[in-house]
Formats: sequence, C-alpha cells, structure tokens
Amino acid sequence: MIIRPLTGLIGAEITGLDLKNLDESSLEALDRAFADHLVLCIRDQSLTPADLMDLTHLLGGPGETPYLTGLKEYPDVVPVIKEADENSPHTFGAGWHTDFTFQERPPAKTLLYAVETPDAGGDTLYANMYAAYDALSDGMKAALNSLNAVHSATRSYGPQATLKNHLEHMTITNDDREPDTRLHPVIRMHPVTNRPALWINPTYTIRFENMTADESEPLLNYLNQLIVSPQFCCRVRWQPGTLTIWDNRCTQHCATSDYHGHRREMWRTTIAGETPMAIA
Ligand code: SIN
Repeated sequence: MIIRPLTGLIGAEITGLDLKNLDESSLEALDRAFADHLVLCIRDQSLTPADLMDLTHLLGGPGETPYLTGLKEYPDVVPVIKEADENSPHTFGAGWHTDFTFQERPPAKTLLYAVETPDAGGDTLYANMYAAYDALSDGMKAALNSLNAVHSATRSYGPQATLKNHLEHMTITNDDREPDTRLHPVIRMHPVTNRPALWINPTYTIRFENMTADESEPLLNYLNQLIVSPQFCCRVRWQPGTLTIWDNRCTQHCATSDYHGHRREMWRTTIAGETPMAIA
C-alpha cells in the first residue's frame, strides 16, 4: 500500500490496496493514515453496492440517512447521479458542508465511490477544520471554546428548500414542517485524535446559541471563510473505481458543478458517529 499526501495539510492518495481483501495490518495502516490525512482517496477499486456495504460495516456500520433515497436493495447506499441531459448545472453537495451536522450523532465518516465520472470536472474539495482552529488567535479560541451553534437541515431539506428541484435524477424528500434544530459545540474534540476542530459549516449551521441569526452571521461568515482558505484545502480528482473516505469530525467538503452536459454517478454511504464533544 502506497500513501501519497495530496497537500501539506489534508488528503492522501492510496494505491496498491484492495478494499475487498483487507487484513488486520492493512486496516490498522488505513486507520493511521485516516487519522493523519483526514481524507483518503483510494484508487483502482472494483466495488458493487454489496461490497460498499461490507466495507461500511467493517468501518463501523451505517449512519442514518434522512431525506435521500438509497438503492432499492441497499437503502444505505445513496446514488449521487447527474445525467448529461439535466437542465441545471447544479450537482449534489455543491456548497461547503460537513455531512448531516443537524443530527444528534452526525456521521463519523462518509464513503463515496465513483462509478462513472466526466473526463474533467466534478472534483470534490475538502478543508481541514483542525488547521482552521489552530490558525485562530488565543483570544478567539477562548471565545469560541464555550460556545454552541445551532444546526438545522432547513436550507437544504426544509419545506421551502429548493435543492431537490435542481437534482433531477436523485430522489430527495423535503420535510413537510420546519426541521428540528440541534446544538453542537463550535469547537469539537475529535474522539480518536483528541485534537480540537472548528466545527461549523455554512450549509447547516444557522446561528450561535443565545444569539440571533443576524448577530451570528458576521462571525460565522469569517470562520467559514477561514476554514476554506487554500492552504487548508485539497482537491480530489475522481476516476471510475476511486473510493474516497472522509472524516466528518474535522473536515468540510464541497462538490464542483463544472461538468454540465456530462454524466457522473457516485455511490455514497456514511458511518455512524458519536455525539460531538466540546473541549473539556
Ligand atoms: C456529498 O456532498 O456527499 C457528495 C460530494 C460529491 O458528490 O462530490
């Protein structure tokens, strides 16, 4: 197994590994690489939905997936599809976010497998939220350490959300009433690495606890822009047979809508996570 970092701070490409034949030592090496690089882009796989589910179970078991409809025989495998003849250039996940932070226990990891990809475009960008936390001043760290943020699915999947109108070949069901909100610490301690991460995102984080959305907006905007500074980001260029695993406890990601007129098909699963913990 060969591990090549994609950048100085986030992401690694892995070759020479068969995910259908993982022994104890390669699983341990994969775990170490995951803790070090946060995003692993594993090339040259040949997976069926059943294989993807086996891997999902091996890595901790599936998380709950609301709003998105999975494959009939594998409901935890969500097809992320954009056909060549769609009207809108918008692709699923085309806004910086961390997966499902509106849940009480958001997914720890996400697995995304490329079935068909455009010749160019459709890359996914990732950002390192540990690095963003580390870059803050001591004063800002101290101010944020004790804050909680309110997370909600309202912008993407609430009654007024229009995301699903742009995604003609995905089955998305919006809430018919305002979705519940969830409080999570703004600075999250990673349960495996024990490192703090600046854990907000522009898609699901609505405001700070005990503040209005208007009061929260300037600081949320500043922090969200900091997280996606170029030096904290990497970019995964997909090929059919690439499986990327990312850590939702310390990263954001964003798909790019730059392949209009071309087909892209991915299969996505998540790994169940834990309740986010603040700095002790
Ligand atoms: C996602 O945000 O889960 C999908 C990202 C992608 O398709 O690149």
